[in-house]
Amino acid sequence: MCGITACVGGDDAVGGLLTGLGNLEYRGYDSAGIAVPDDRGLNVVKREGRLERLREALGTDRPTGSIGIGHTRWSTHGPPTDENAHPHQDCTGRVAVVHNGIIDNYETLRRGLEERGHRFESETDTEVVPHLIEEELTAGKSTEAAFRAAVDQLSGSYAIACLVDGENEVYAARQGSPLVLGEADGRYFLASDVPAFREFTDRVVYLEDGDIVTVRPDGYDITDLAGAPLAREVDTVDWEPEAAGKSGYPHFMLKEIHEQPESLRQTIHGRIETFAGHVSLEEFDDASFADVERVQFVSMGTSHHASMYAAAQLTARGLTANAYMAGEYADCPAPIDENTLVVAVTQSGETADTMNAVRRARDAGARTLAVTNVVGSSVTRECDESLFIRAGPEIGVAATKTFSSQVVALTLLGERIAEDSTGVQRAEVRDLLSGLGDLPGDVQQVLDETPAAEVAEALYNCDAYFFLGRGPARAVALEGALKFKEISYEHAEGFAASELKHGPLALVTDNTPVFGVITGEEDLKTISNLKEVQARGAPVIVVAPESLEGQVEFADYFLPIPDTHPEVAGVLANIQLQLVSYHAADQLGRPIDKPRNLAKSVTVE
Ligand code: AGP
Repeated sequence: MCGITACVGGDDAVGGLLTGLGNLEYRGYDSAGIAVPDDRGLNVVKREGRLERLREALGTDRPTGSIGIGHTRWSTHGPPTDENAHPHQDCTGRVAVVHNGIIDNYETLRRGLEERGHRFESETDTEVVPHLIEEELTAGKSTEAAFRAAVDQLSGSYAIACLVDGENEVYAARQGSPLVLGEADGRYFLASDVPAFREFTDRVVYLEDGDIVTVRPDGYDITDLAGAPLAREVDTVDWEPEAAGKSGYPHFMLKEIHEQPESLRQTIHGRIETFAGHVSLEEFDDASFADVERVQFVSMGTSHHASMYAAAQLTARGLTANAYMAGEYADCPAPIDENTLVVAVTQSGETADTMNAVRRARDAGARTLAVTNVVGSSVTRECDESLFIRAGPEIGVAATKTFSSQVVALTLLGERIAEDSTGVQRAEVRDLLSGLGDLPGDVQQVLDETPAAEVAEALYNCDAYFFLGRGPARAVALEGALKFKEISYEHAEGFAASELKHGPLALVTDNTPVFGVITGEEDLKTISNLKEVQARGAPVIVVAPESLEGQVEFADYFLPIPDTHPEVAGVLANIQLQLVSYHAADQLGRPIDKPRNLAKSVTVE
């Protein structure tokens, strides 16, 4: 979390930085700041709070320089205050630095710097960097050499950008935190993510760990820490800037929910051959999963729920598959050998817990595969193989369209793994692929006909909310509860329907609505559990295929989904729950796209 950006060239660095920070606010939003040198000197302006406060502080008499660096923060070391906001400076006030990540050895570095007379203004780990650069400059090094020498002393994960008053260059380094370079005509950008500068250019260089970049108004150099030149390709992003805007929706979350017919079309595009009953994943054209004896999914939050869904599917196909919460994976090691496939599921591709699990799996000899939305993200660099979910940029902190695309991409991957490792093509696969082919249209039907807003309006003011499901539908129930609590701040929990009588039933009252997720005839047993809670007075809301309406007539509210393959039905059911959460949070007046305490990309453990 935290977003950094830099702008070099053109005649309005402040404008470029504020645009970038606005587009990066999803990465953190408890303070923001910029550093822009002009003929008045080095202007550093930073404020605790949302970006709006920084805009107010800048007023109309803005710095006029053509280079600058900027930052939007999600606190790790020290609370959100003006002092802890980035950029940070050295004792002379000449050097300014922004940073995303964690500097593991900052305490030792800070102690040494303080002993040598440096004064610190903040509680952050970042502030050691400008002071280290200052020492190297004082020792007579050039700015570039000083920057390299400072970076060489850091351990941990970082993306850093730095500038020095009176100079016309920005220096940056990447190690373990994302950093991309944007190449526009006569202007260059650095940022934690492409949306920061997408409206200025579609030409992007995905920097790699160990890269040091020097950006000037007329070009840039990428080298390793020792100064040896590195060649990095310039990619062209294939989505339009509007894809990262709200397009008239009041919130990114609602826009992203409504984008799902299109994002799912992208996810399956070219990947299913329904008539042949074949999954075609070009990423693995030259690969085989025949040796895979067990599959371990590692992921967090919503991605963990997608993994649970996928693990339940693979288990039903006779494979050994488990979904591990990545943050627990290193502490409770699961057995791994060369026939273990570890699948890291992460929409951002940057989640620290998931990255650590990948490293542990790799070190233990497993084959590693990333399932992610972000091309060039850290997980794709560290895994042996990658499968992209192609959901397009997701800005709302609450994951919506990426969950649906994860489930679908994992369903396709699971089918391919099962086919290779069992050596047989399942007869039932045609029905599943046909359901996936129909999914974009079915999602549109849900979006067009949903009664979710009325359900939310009737129930948004209750004591707690419970979500039940069994099999893959249990993963949907857990995801429904996570979404609900994350954006409404109301207490919500998901349970296996079978678990209810073993404890959670004690919580049920007439003021605790219970949502039941039913995907088909297979999990109709959940109906008895819902009747049990209804007998205790709880309002019951059922999400189920429309043809089951007669069997769920007892429910107080019905959220129908089109009839389809049960493994596809979970995606549709989840979209109904996304909509209920959204409308409940809206009724409660919550800041839906930026829920308190949360960030889109969690790059600390
Ligand atoms: C989802 O709504 C949450 N914001 C969160 O649980 C998220 O899914 C989790 O932090 C994992 O993120 P990732 O998919 O980027 O790894």
